[in-house]
Amino acid sequence: MHQAIKGVFDILPQAEEPWQNSALWRWVESQARQLCHIYGYHEIRTPILESTDLFLRHVGGETDIVSKEMYSFLDKGGRSISLRPEGTAPVIRALIEHRCLETSNTHKLFYLAPMFRYERQQAGRYRQHHQWGVEIIGARSPYIDVEAMDLLFSFFRRLGIKNLTLHLHSLGQFQAREQYIEGLKSYLAPHLHTMSEDSQRRFHTNPLRILDSKSPEDQSLLEGAPELLEFLSPESRAHFDSVCSLLNERSIPYLIQPRLVRGLDYYNDTVFEMTSTHLGSQNSLGGGGRYDGLIQQMGGPSLPSFGFGCGLERVLQTVVHQSLATPPPDCVSLVWIPMDAAALHATFQWASRFRDQGLSCDVWHGEKRWKNLIKRANDAQIPWLVVVGEQELATHLLPVKEMATGMVTPMRLEELEQYLLKKTNLIPPC
Ligand code: HAM
Repeated sequence: MHQAIKGVFDILPQAEEPWQNSALWRWVESQARQLCHIYGYHEIRTPILESTDLFLRHVGGETDIVSKEMYSFLDKGGRSISLRPEGTAPVIRALIEHRCLETSNTHKLFYLAPMFRYERQQAGRYRQHHQWGVEIIGARSPYIDVEAMDLLFSFFRRLGIKNLTLHLHSLGQFQAREQYIEGLKSYLAPHLHTMSEDSQRRFHTNPLRILDSKSPEDQSLLEGAPELLEFLSPESRAHFDSVCSLLNERSIPYLIQPRLVRGLDYYNDTVFEMTSTHLGSQNSLGGGGRYDGLIQQMGGPSLPSFGFGCGLERVLQTVVHQSLATPPPDCVSLVWIPMDAAALHATFQWASRFRDQGLSCDVWHGEKRWKNLIKRANDAQIPWLVVVGEQELATHLLPVKEMATGMVTPMRLEELEQYLLKKTNLIPPC
């Protein structure tokens, strides 16, 4: 028997793990889509495969995501290709390639897409995960930063997620960060030999990431480390202060987190993460920040930008864990049950007629035992059931059983059609 490979999972109508239920996924994704519409974002879809170089050069060769976790291979033409580990660099690649950035000022884009990272297996970390991401391109304003964080916050609020913390920090501009790194290195250098192996390596390759270390041997040392916020330029400081006061005005609580640096290289100024308490060490539901230099670095115009990515697996696990709103049932409105070949032929045609009107319905073949049928219909939360046999075909009266009440009402086909058209949420006819 074949099995899904390690670190990936299936999303099914009947999943053993409730958070892997496809109706729940569809519901959560539809909330994200609706909010994107409300906030004025447009969808973008980019290929899963990109040239490895894109991530190496623009996400950061020294980041864990690129240096350790990429699914990369040589294609039959000898080119190095990678499954995308994140969505920002591909979106910018596409916008530059299609010259979209030359046409108007601000672009607001979103995606719902799988990402691939060869992560060490642990709760909340998957080798394929799904992100809802947004990118706002073309404006450097604290209003943009806060609008994006507000969008993510609204999403969690819609889903009913509680116990959220917004961790906020500013990385400043490139020059301030370089000065800070020098300061941090001078502070850490005398203690290098006592630091964790990872941090000793990062001291030379990516010192800022040491701030993120969870190792106990680094923790007390980091307590006394200089803080990046003290190195910010007046402009970055003013930007950060405005972000904080706009968040206050929106009543979005936040925690200034002097060690938040994020795992990708392209950020400057505002960075943030939203966490939920029950998720353990992999508790980030989403995160992002400002990346004002990336587009130009990738060969496009100089356009400041801001974005975030939100991990849907962790969101769904939180929704299930906190026993939040159940999604609307994912089923047809009416099920036809033909009792013989003639009834099958008739119900096949009636089903087509109803579907042409935008009414969802199904024909269930095979199962004739009443008890089993009722159980199956109840399990699937089917609202109406119609059994059709010889007598119904002769009289043209259909016994319509409303499952919620158990009441059976005889109706003619046209009557039933009108009744359902009034009662159900119609999918518009194509
Ligand atoms: P990221 O923080 O690497 O950012 O990922 C965003 C979110 O994806 C995380 O907060 C987490 O919820 C989820 N996530 C990441 N890795 C995994 C994993 N292995 N398993 C499950 N969930 C995971 C980015 O990817 C940036 N591109 C976000 C961004 C967009 N910044 C600006 N624009």
